[in-house]
Amino acid sequence: MRISVFGIGYVGIVSCGCLAELGHEVIGVDVSPEKIAMLASGRSPIVEEAIDTLIAGAVKQGRLTATDDVVAAVHGTEVSFISVGTPSAADGSVALGAVDSVIRAIGAAIREKPGSHAVVMRSTVPPGTAEDRVIPLLEEASGRHLGDGLQYYSNPEFLREGSSVRDFRAPPFTLIGAPGGDDAAILREIYAAIDAPVHVAPIRVAESVKHISNVFHAVKLTFANEAGAILAAHGVDAREALRLLCEDRVLNISPAYLRPGFAFGGSCLPKDVRSFLALADQKNLAAPMLKNLLPANTAIIDRTFDAIARHGRQTVALFGLAFKQGTDDLRESPFVLLAEKLLGKGYDLRIYDRFVQVATLMGSNRAYIDREIPHLERLMVVSPEAALSGAKIVVIGHIAPEDRPALLAALDGHVVIDLVGVPALRAVPGYEGVCW
Ligand SMILES: NC(=O)c1ccc[n+]([C@@H]2O[C@H](COP(=O)([O-])OP(=O)(O)OC[C@H]3O[C@@H](n4cnc5c(N)ncnc54)[C@H](O)[C@@H]3O)[C@@H](O)[C@H]2O)c1
Repeated sequence: MRISVFGIGYVGIVSCGCLAELGHEVIGVDVSPEKIAMLASGRSPIVEEAIDTLIAGAVKQGRLTATDDVVAAVHGTEVSFISVGTPSAADGSVALGAVDSVIRAIGAAIREKPGSHAVVMRSTVPPGTAEDRVIPLLEEASGRHLGDGLQYYSNPEFLREGSSVRDFRAPPFTLIGAPGGDDAAILREIYAAIDAPVHVAPIRVAESVKHISNVFHAVKLTFANEAGAILAAHGVDAREALRLLCEDRVLNISPAYLRPGFAFGGSCLPKDVRSFLALADQKNLAAPMLKNLLPANTAIIDRTFDAIARHGRQTVALFGLAFKQGTDDLRESPFVLLAEKLLGKGYDLRIYDRFVQVATLMGSNRAYIDREIPHLERLMVVSPEAALSGAKIVVIGHIAPEDRPALLAALDGHVVIDLVGVPALRAVPGYEGVCW
């Protein structure tokens, strides 16, 4: 494949060297004459492990050249990768000036090109950038429509400086954002020799995965630093504690707890967060991220209330009262907090929870119910049908699989706010989530 790479900074130069190594013919393009001159003479414009020999070898073999001539680069290649900078603007949003100008220049060159051309965004851009801004700009500049001699893909770069050549050769996956119905054959071919799974997703999803990956890394690092500092202040070998935390690949380093849904609760998480923060307070340690966990959790309950309130003061059927499905444990259940907020604001409420129902009948957990939530017990009904009858808004906190057919059968024009993501509900008109 013949590929032009626009922007030969940290990301672009690694793409140039590694794509040439894969056997492609690569042209590096930049607005910086110094960088073009360095690349043209076989030298890397950045310092990075393994890059010097890679670039020198590719240039020597004639597989890698450099130019500032956009038209020649576009006309001489089938595909253009964009890896220009996307720095922060003064307000914290991303500055897309370099993206705009490179898209305009590539588009103008495509206008004069006889064959078709693909444009691939490697730079990190926020979700929606392609569909709301870049594709319309590219279509306008090139005089073509997507699918008609013009293709566009998002292909975010996940490399880390310091090990970027290794990361390019062995990525966790190749992520491609493509328009619906386009299987991104050209990119699959370019990366055919890379041994990694290929995921093709809608463009907005691909753009957002790169964005949230970096936010997630920042959350992980801050967690490790704040938790580590609190542990160390109490005489714990924090590195060993965090090393062992990572040994749990079932709940800790895993997809567990990483699905957007609803607030956490129960008898352990809120209590243990509070007691860990008390350890920080005892040593006067700042832990701003950890200290915001409980307020952040409350904000999710408030957001759910707001989603309900947007539909007016209608009768609400709440499915699920215990802190999670399959238990009658009501301690610090976020659904209890949501129910109380609704009641406090004057909403009519019916509550169905199969397991709490059983508990009330059997007498187990009776003391807790009598002491803490007698006012909620009075609102509990015995079946999904009874919950739905007379209700306008259905909130699914959780629902046992055996109750789902009855719920689906009884739905009749209800607004459904699903906090857990029941697949069978997705097709219901008026269906919405809160954190997703
Ligand atoms: N640096 C990283 O580790 C890394 C990793 C993954 C993703 N990213 C993302 O990749 C993108 C590039 O990052 P970087 O660190 O390589 O940036 P960089 O600043 O090192 O390189 C950007 C290059 O683009 C060139 N450029 C600007 N306008 C141009 C134009 N109109 N035509 C051609 N070239 C132009 C600049 O001269 C510069 O050489 C950013 O969106 C960044 O967020 C960076």
